[in-house]
Amino acid sequence: MRRQIVIGNWKMNGSVTANSELLAEILDQWTGVHQAEVAVCPPYPYLAAAAVQLDNSNVGLGAQDISTQSSGAYTGEISGDMLTDVGCRYVLVGHSERREYHGETSELVAEKFQAALDKGLTPVLCVGETLAERENGKTFDVIGQQLLAVVEHCGLPGVAKGIIAYEPVWAIGTGKTATPEMAQDVHSYIREVLGPEGDQMRILYGGSVKPDSAEGLFGQKDIDGALVGGASLKAEDFVAICRAAE
Ligand code: 13P
Repeated sequence: MRRQIVIGNWKMNGSVTANSELLAEILDQWTGVHQAEVAVCPPYPYLAAAAVQLDNSNVGLGAQDISTQSSGAYTGEISGDMLTDVGCRYVLVGHSERREYHGETSELVAEKFQAALDKGLTPVLCVGETLAERENGKTFDVIGQQLLAVVEHCGLPGVAKGIIAYEPVWAIGTGKTATPEMAQDVHSYIREVLGPEGDQMRILYGGSVKPDSAEGLFGQKDIDGALVGGASLKAEDFVAICRAAE
C-alpha cells in the first residue's frame, strides 16, 4: 500500500506574517491522525520559522531546491545539510520552473536528487512535458528521458527512495488540469519505466490541482497524491485537497 501524500509548493510567495497565519490555519484544520501524509515547501528564508511552527504536528516540511554541493564557496546555494539542519524532510528537484528559468538540465537534476539522498532527504523529482511536446506526441519520450537521467545517475534503488511528481508544464498555473485519464496514462507509463521498483513509489500529480479536481485525480490507481501550487496558499483549499487524498 502506498500512502497518499499532498505537498504544497509555495513557490516565491509569502511573508513572515502571511506564512505564520497560513500555517496556523492549516494546522487548525488538519488536526488529529490522518491517512494522508502532508507537507509544505515554503521559500528558503522562512523554513526555520516554519519548522518551529510545525514541530510536533502532522505536517512535514520541505524545500523547493537543493545544491549539488555539500558546503563551501557557492554563493547563493543551499546545501542538503542546511535543509536537514532546519528540519526539512523533503526537497523538490527539477521543477519545470527551475528547468525553464534556470537552465537546469536533467543531469543537474539527477545530481540534486543524489545530493538529497546523501543527506537523508526525500527528493521529489518533478517531470513533465510542455504543450508543444504533448501536441507533437513527445510526452512519453520527454518524461522517459527526464526519468532515465536520474535512474542512470542514482540507480533504480536510489530513485525508489524518492517521490515522483508528474507536472505537465502546460497545466502549471494555467487553470488547465490534465483530465484524470490523461494523468493516469502518464503515471502508469512512469511506473512501467521504473519496473518493479516503481510499484512501491509514490507518483504525485501537479498542475492546477484544486479541491474540485482532486477527487477525480486521486481516484486513479497510479496517482498517489498531489504537488499543489496556487491552491496550497489558501488553507481551506489545501486542506480540502488533503482530505480528498484520504
Ligand atoms: P499550480 O497548482 O499553481 O498549477 O502549480 C503546480 C506546481 O507547479 C506545483 O509544483
